Amino acid sequence: MRPDGIIIAIDGPAGVGKSTVGRLVADRVGYSFISTGKMYRALAWKALDLGLDLEDDGALVGLAGSLKWAFPKGPGPEAGVSLDGRVLGLEITDERAGKASSGIARLAGVRLFMRDMQRQAGASGGVVMEGRDIGTNVFPDAELKVYLDASPQARAGRRVEQLRGQGLEADYSQVLDFIIKRDAQDSGRRNNPLKKAEDAHYLDSTSMARELVVDAIVGLFRGVSRP
Ligand code: C5P
Repeated sequence: MRPDGIIIAIDGPAGVGKSTVGRLVADRVGYSFISTGKMYRALAWKALDLGLDLEDDGALVGLAGSLKWAFPKGPGPEAGVSLDGRVLGLEITDERAGKASSGIARLAGVRLFMRDMQRQAGASGGVVMEGRDIGTNVFPDAELKVYLDASPQARAGRRVEQLRGQGLEADYSQVLDFIIKRDAQDSGRRNNPLKKAEDAHYLDSTSMARELVVDAIVGLFRGVSRP
């Protein structure tokens, strides 16, 4: 057992609701929550801002190493990633940052940097960490692994709702197209592709209400963490 509790790893494709569900699970069990997607998005956003070549692994790793990373745990927009003291919110949620993050996430050096930072952030346990490779690569020894899935259509629908809720414009067929392309890129890449860990629990949330998904994961947690 780790000092602060177990590690709950939640992996799955774009738009499946890992962040929302992960945060709710963390609140229910009194754990902290870390979205590793936000880390890739934050680095991509910074690289775009500086006009860096998004294929240049060395330059991106250099940039990542020069930044002061922090993972504030506050509620709502206060939670997430901060770079050099600036908490990043809406600027990293748009599709431009999403597309760029999926691109830089293919690069071996960037992935190693992120993996080491994620291991440091979660090593003492008591954390829900969501992403694409948490159960397979970052914490293959996580005590509870969940692979959360849903059809591309259901994910596109939810993403449109989420974007509109944030006051952003969203077109369903464009979002669906984007999700299908991102699935192909995230699952097809050579370095740590998105895939279910053999020992992960598979949850298809296509027709499950969010609360039921949260209940299911909290139930699994109780089963694992009970002495
Ligand atoms: O989850 P989110 O859409 O915010 O992640 C942005 C991108 O970061 C993903 O498309 C994926 O390519 C990459 N990512 C990753 N490994 C993780 C988390 C995110 O490759 N653990």
